[in-house]
This record gives sequence, C-alpha cells and structure tokens, in this order.
Amino acid sequence: MRINSTLTILLFTIILSSCFFSNKENVDIASSENDNVSDPIEAKVSALLSTMTLEEKIGQMTQITFEVLETEGKLDTAKLKEAIHKYKIGSILNTPTSGAPTPQEWNKILSQVLDQTNQTDKKIPLMYGIDAIHGSSYTNGAVLFPQQIGLAATWDPDLVEKCTEVSAYETRASSIPWVFSPDLDLPRNPVWSRFWESFGEDVYLSSEMGVAMVRGFQGEDIGAMSKVAACAKHFIGYGSNTTGKDRTPSIIPDRVLKQYDIPIFKKSIDAGVKSVMISSGEINGVPVHVNKKLITNVLKGELGFKGFVVTDWEDIVYLNTRHKVAATMREAVKKAVMAGVDMSMVPYNYVFCDELLSLVHDGEVPLSRINDAVRRILRVKYELDLFRTPVTDPKDYPDFGSDSSVALAYIAASESITLLKNENNVLPISKDSKVLVTGPTANSMKSLNGGWSYTWQGEKSDEFAKDKFTVLEAFQNKIGEDRVLYTPGVSIFEEIDIAKASLLARNVDYIVLCLGEHNYTETPGDINDLNITKPQIKLAKELAKLNKPIILVLNEGRPRIINEFEVEMDAVLQCYLPGNEGARALVDIVYGDVNPSGKLPYNYPRYANSLQKYNRKYTESIGSEEQNDDTGYAKNYDPQYEFGYGLSYTTFEYRNLGFDKVFIKKKDSIKITIDVQNTGVRKGKEVVQLYVRDMFASVTPEVKVLKRFKKIELQPGETKKVSFVIDNRDLSFVDTEGNWVSEDGEFEAIIGGVVKKFALEKEL
Ligand code: BGC
Repeated sequence: MRINSTLTILLFTIILSSCFFSNKENVDIASSENDNVSDPIEAKVSALLSTMTLEEKIGQMTQITFEVLETEGKLDTAKLKEAIHKYKIGSILNTPTSGAPTPQEWNKILSQVLDQTNQTDKKIPLMYGIDAIHGSSYTNGAVLFPQQIGLAATWDPDLVEKCTEVSAYETRASSIPWVFSPDLDLPRNPVWSRFWESFGEDVYLSSEMGVAMVRGFQGEDIGAMSKVAACAKHFIGYGSNTTGKDRTPSIIPDRVLKQYDIPIFKKSIDAGVKSVMISSGEINGVPVHVNKKLITNVLKGELGFKGFVVTDWEDIVYLNTRHKVAATMREAVKKAVMAGVDMSMVPYNYVFCDELLSLVHDGEVPLSRINDAVRRILRVKYELDLFRTPVTDPKDYPDFGSDSSVALAYIAASESITLLKNENNVLPISKDSKVLVTGPTANSMKSLNGGWSYTWQGEKSDEFAKDKFTVLEAFQNKIGEDRVLYTPGVSIFEEIDIAKASLLARNVDYIVLCLGEHNYTETPGDINDLNITKPQIKLAKELAKLNKPIILVLNEGRPRIINEFEVEMDAVLQCYLPGNEGARALVDIVYGDVNPSGKLPYNYPRYANSLQKYNRKYTESIGSEEQNDDTGYAKNYDPQYEFGYGLSYTTFEYRNLGFDKVFIKKKDSIKITIDVQNTGVRKGKEVVQLYVRDMFASVTPEVKVLKRFKKIELQPGETKKVSFVIDNRDLSFVDTEGNWVSEDGEFEAIIGGVVKKFALEKEL
C-alpha cells in the first residue's frame, strides 16, 4: 500500500513536471538539488508545488499577525476569509490582543482558521508561529520557565533540553506547531533591551544551550504530537548594536562575525533547526535582510541550512522606511526575496503579496526563487505532519501544566539563581528570624517573568499568574505572614515610602532588598543608563545606614550597575528573570533548603562605561592592571563579578590537572582531567569550567576562552574526576584572511584556577 502510493506520487510528479517545466527557469527548478524524489517528503512537496498557482505560492511566503484578523478583539471571519481565500496566506503569528488563550481557546481559534483552509482548492494547512520563548508563554496556564539568560546560568544543557520539551508539548497542545526560539544572539553591550533573551556573552555556552533548546523543541521528529519546529534567531549580528539600543546598526568585521557570531548558529543548524529568523539590524551599513552574501551564500550555502528563512517583524517595510536602502516597497520586496528571504513576517497588510506577484510577472524575481522558498516552507509543513494534524485536541495533552512540569520549572529556577556575594556566610538564614521584604520587584510577577509573557511586553503577568508566588508571597508562605514585613519603598522609577521601609527595618533581623527591572522587551526596553535606577540606589543606601544585614535580590534582565552600594550589601543573589516558580526557588535558597549552583553567563560590570567581556579581547595589551586613585588611572579590567562566577554554601577544591599527552598533533585530541572535591559540609553542585589560553598567535589571542563545562554534584568530602576532550578545532581561530586556522605553540588549560601548559606541535 505504502509503495503503491509513493509510486503514484512519483508518477504524478514526473508527468506534471514534464508539462509544467517548459521554460528555462522551470528547468532550473526541476534540476534543483532539493528535488530529490527518492525522499518521500520531497516527493510530496514536488507534487504539490507543481500544481500550485503563483498566487498560492506567494501566499505561502506570507505571514500576517493575528491582529489583522481581529475586529474589536475578536476573530473576524470576513477578514480571515480575505486572508485565506484572496491572499492564500500560509502563516499567522502572535497572540490575540486580549492576551494568552487557553489550549481550548487556541484550538477553537485555529479550528476556525482550518475551516477556511479546508475550503480552499489545495487545503494547505497554515503554520501558526509564536514566541514561546520561556515555556509556551502565550498560552494561559502554561508552565513558565526562567528566561534564556537564566537557563544559561544553570550551565546544564540537559536540564534546558527537558524544560524545552515541556515548552514544545504545551505549545503543540495549543495547536501551535512553530516557535520563534531559541535566541542565538551574542550581545556585546549589556545595555541592550534583549540581553536577557540571549544565553549571555560566551560563544560556546550559547552554542551548547542553543542546541539543547533545538533538541528539546524538535526531538527526532517534528511530526510527533509533542514537538514543534524551532526558529533560530536573529541571523545575524543583532546583539552587536554599537549604541546598545534595539535595532540600531552594528559594525562587525567579517573575521569577528565568523569567529564569534556564526558558530552559535552553525551548531543549531547542524542540530537540524527548521527555520531561521533574520536580524532586524544592519551590519557595516547593510541591513541583513538584503544581504544575499549572508543569507544565501553563508546561511544556506556554507552552513548548509535546509529549512526556511523568515524575516523579522515588518522588516521588508523597514528597508524602505527605516534603513532607506529601497526607495519603494517594490524594491524592498525584490531585494529581500532575492537576498534569500523565504517568508515575510509582513505583518499588517498584503502589499508584500501584490508587489511580489507583479515582480514575478515582470521577470524581476525568477520563479525559481519563489519555488525554492515555497519548497522549503512546504517541506517543514509536511515534516510537522500538518496536512494530517493541522490542529490538536487539548484532551490528548493531559500533562499540560502538570505538577511535574511545574517542578521542572522550579528546578531550573533554583539551578539558575546565582549567589554573587555572601559576606561572613550570612546566608542561609534561620526560619525563626524576622525579615523585611522591600523593593520594587518584591511583589511582582511581571518582574519575575519579564517580556514575552502572556503578552509581548509581559504587562499582564500579575493577572495571568495570580496563583503563583511573588517574592513577598513566597517568603510569607515559607515562614508565615507574621515573620514578614513588607513595604515597597520605591517603584523602579519613583520613591514611594523609603522612610517607612527604614522604620520597618528596625524591627527585623534581615532586610531582603528586591531590586531590578520592570517587564520589557525590544525598543520599549531601551535605556540610557546601565546604572540601576536612582530611587533604588537611594533605598539601598538608606537601608544600609541601619547596620542590619541586607540580602540583595536582583531580579533583572540585564546587569544594572550596583557599584554605588554593593559594598554595603551582605549577600547578593542574582535571579535573572526566573519565571513563575522563581520566587519559591529563591526563598528556598535564602533558607538553605537549596544550595545555590548558578554561575554568571556574563561579566557583571562595575561601571556603566567599562563593559569588558571576560575574554578581555580588546583590553589585554594596553592599560593598567592597578587602580591608581592619584592619577585617575582606571584598572583595565575590573568587573563587579566575572563570567562563570557563582558561590555555593559549600566549598570546592580543584587538584591534579592532567593531560593524556602534553604534545599534540593537529589530528590528535587531548584528554584533560581534574579532580574536584567538595571540601565543605553540605552537598553541592559545581560547574567545572575548562578555559584555554593560546599563548601567542598571529591574531591577538583571547586571554582565555571557555571550551568545555560540566555541572556535577558532590557529597561533603567527595571527590570526582572530571574529564574533557578537546581537539584542534578547539584551538582554532579565524585569521586575517578569514580562514579557520590553528597555530603551533603553547596553550594553557585553566580549570578552577589550576593552570597547566600543553603544546600543539609544528607539522613537518
Ligand atoms: C522580534 C522577534 C519576534 C517577532 C515575532 C519581533 O519584533 O524581534 O524576536 O520573534 O517579533 O513576535
């Protein structure tokens, strides 16, 4: 039966191909490398493609936002009909303006959409896409995990994969098969409002975490009922804006782009990510959306990306209105499609369809380009099994919002929270003590979740997650309301009652000072100053006058400068944006029921104008190592806390760094081992981090760079031997000619402060 139907499709394809491919362009398509009829999905794609009209093809390349289909906040059938029957659109994105629907409501909405696509000639299902970036964050009742920056701080890719599996399951339970995640940006400036959507400043850590998320979303087969297609974004250089403001230009030398930004995408592409979203930014004056070299030659060519490329929000329009590289919309559409864009996130109207249709009719965009784009999109639709299961039934997803998924979100939050300071072991504290919980983030689900939570900016988190604990509620729940005093003291931007906070603080044993940021993403999150806001500084300083122990809890997407008062804080806990279960995890750490094990995925700067990365790429060779207050010389490298840093309630010792060989050849790998012992009295987890330093190279080498890591758990007194294998590729860099090379000579391996040399031998 199976063979028969495949044969029929094959025959059908061959017959159709022979009548359809009558001009030169069509011959190109027929011989295109994708047209591999021995692959059953490709055969289906070819068969369908060959029957489609140009309008239908262009519709597949079009994505609109749900809002276009709404009238007064409700899905409007007339608008839906126009989208599907007139423009034949292939994709919709975004949540209804009212905020996150339940899975049942999603099912209803998408069944209405399906009713319409089923009335079309080809019945091609729509591919709905959503920003499910920390759980199925646009579905009411879904489990919300820490945002990516927090996931990176767990340094545990297996855990991240498990969390992402839940996101995939709950998104598919909502009938949505496609997510705009993971974010693989490499932010160079922590001021950027989307810093927290990334995995931080390191290439290797970001690559590993990206792959973990791609695997979690997609599994082995995206057609499975618990899987979705992932979208690696934003290709490329988006996180490198020079101003720190969202969607502003980047200057990135090709060599740097190749060595730092591209490898993160490369790993996710190798892991099979099905779609890639293009960066809204521009690099060296060229918007990425028109950069054929990057999209077609590098992404689809050199990196071998076989999925489809989607623009970011309205970015073809912006080529005309913002970047000014196209004088008309027609020119903008032509440039983007010819650069290699397969689908346009239009998202507000159908100008894209009209312009593209006319461009093809006039021979300005070849049909072969359209066919290539549609082929890529249809392939993913088939792989998602959308033709058979275009919507899902929430009843088939009994684990939606389950206790075990909530427990996983709690574990992820507790593994991410990073203890940055613990003077005189002030933490953990006793449950009998009395605490003042204060600060603007103390009683806010919005701050715990950040943006992309229920709505774009996440302003409805307190409403949607009202059954979850804020930090204040988690303290009250843990030790009883009578032991917890509360007043906010300040909001993020204004003073409220600092005097009251000081007054209440006199009656407690500890002050839990919750500072940080409000909810935001993208341009609404742009700031002019990385310093934490003035009212918060004032509150901290006023409370510091009381000589009570202060536990500073940071709840923020980016590292806001705390240098003015950090020295007065007894303990500092960085929570990032820990999601709906974050407050419970935090409180369990404060009381010692959980031993913290998160590590910073970025350098926490001490000064707003001193933003060096941990690898000190640009500062090693010049400048002072010592602060000199007489001359005003600043230390060249002086972060508040360094990348990879994070304390525990126990202590670890590193010994016996060893190699299986000290001299290696290019074809060899080297096994590096180290003994790690828990020298304290509590069980604890440690992230063993291997850095490598190239001593001399033809391009200034990094001071050190992360090559491997492993999170391990040790009982008190226990020692574990940890080993890592690296090879020539780990010793390579991009030279001035743009080639990946390794150069012979000495290297240092650095683990937990222990250093040992090895050497790459000259090839004779
Ligand atoms: C963002 C993307 C997001 C898209 C769809 C854009 O504004 O830059 O990251 O996936 O909107 O919501």
